[in-house]
Amino acid sequence: MLVLGIESSCDECAAAVVACDSGAIRLLGQRIASQIPIHAPYGGVVPELASRDHVRRIVQVIAEALDRAGVGLRRIDGFGVTAGPGLIGSLLIGVSAAKALAYSSAKPLVGVNHLEAHLHAVRLERAALDLPCLGLVVSGGHTSLFELQGLGRGQILGRTRDDAAGEALDKVAKLLGLPYPGGLAIERAARGGDPAAIRFPRPLPGRQLDFSFSGLKTAAALHVKREGLPQGPGLADFAASFQEAIVDSLVRKTLLAARKRRLARVVVAGGVAANLRLREELERRGAGEIECLFPSVALCTDNAAMVAALAASYLEQGRDDGLALDADAMLPWPGD
Ligand code: KG4
Ligand code: ZN
Repeated sequence: MLVLGIESSCDECAAAVVACDSGAIRLLGQRIASQIPIHAPYGGVVPELASRDHVRRIVQVIAEALDRAGVGLRRIDGFGVTAGPGLIGSLLIGVSAAKALAYSSAKPLVGVNHLEAHLHAVRLERAALDLPCLGLVVSGGHTSLFELQGLGRGQILGRTRDDAAGEALDKVAKLLGLPYPGGLAIERAARGGDPAAIRFPRPLPGRQLDFSFSGLKTAAALHVKREGLPQGPGLADFAASFQEAIVDSLVRKTLLAARKRRLARVVVAGGVAANLRLREELERRGAGEIECLFPSVALCTDNAAMVAALAASYLEQGRDDGLALDADAMLPWPGD
């Protein structure tokens, strides 16, 4: 079965074609049109600019994904699209495009949850996702822990009470005068820095599985106000210490959740999962206890291959959302 997936929930306009053979997924071709240069001057995503750019590019992005896959539209057996959560204006562009394609080709259409799709990205690189397992989605918009029990079945174990981890990284990077996206800029600036140089707070230190990052962001701002903008080796120390506080929170809560729910495997996804320090620390502190699955860096950030992979599983079950499908900015986790 050949499936075309579309992703437009935030600032990436993407399409991908996958082949699905009884659950085994192969990526045939994809195209991701990033809007980073459009939002960079603002240090974050501007929703109105995002949806306008999606409108301009989506048709070409889909055509290029099909082209790269070497597949004509007529050979596509079904469509998948991110229906939410995300920016409503952006989501509507992808959903409308997918509905138009499904209608004109008389093929089924499935709307998927963006977070569930992130967790299915690993299936593009390994045979199957062995369930149950723990899922950590950590990006610019989300920081959530899930127990994945099956396709469309799971439970939210914890989530951020304020900022997402990526959002905190982006805002502090902006404060330091580093470029957008801030997570990558902070990771680079942290090289050679001492992660113990500044003791940033570790919010919500108890046994609850929720996260909180806004206090940490305030602590960074107060530090700059007090000591001035860090320069040279001071910047490396600042970046390394801030990154360490974020990574420490993520690793601690993830391991806590794994122990509480007796889960021996964790899938990590979302833009912040590209962070090498996070990968290293989760593997080191979870060694012998929990197996860590990370998609390759390119599949961590928003893409349509993960959407097509997840949609393929639903399509194989015979699901068709048809033209009634609607975008939902607050789409709940399936089963929640
Ligand atoms: O998943 P994603 O592409 O979009 C959202 O759904 O938000 O994630 C983007 C986020 C941004 O906050 C960015 O700063 C962060 O991922 N990010 C990183 C790294 N690369 C991107 N954070 C830490 N380390 C990185 N290497
Ligand atoms: Zn995402």
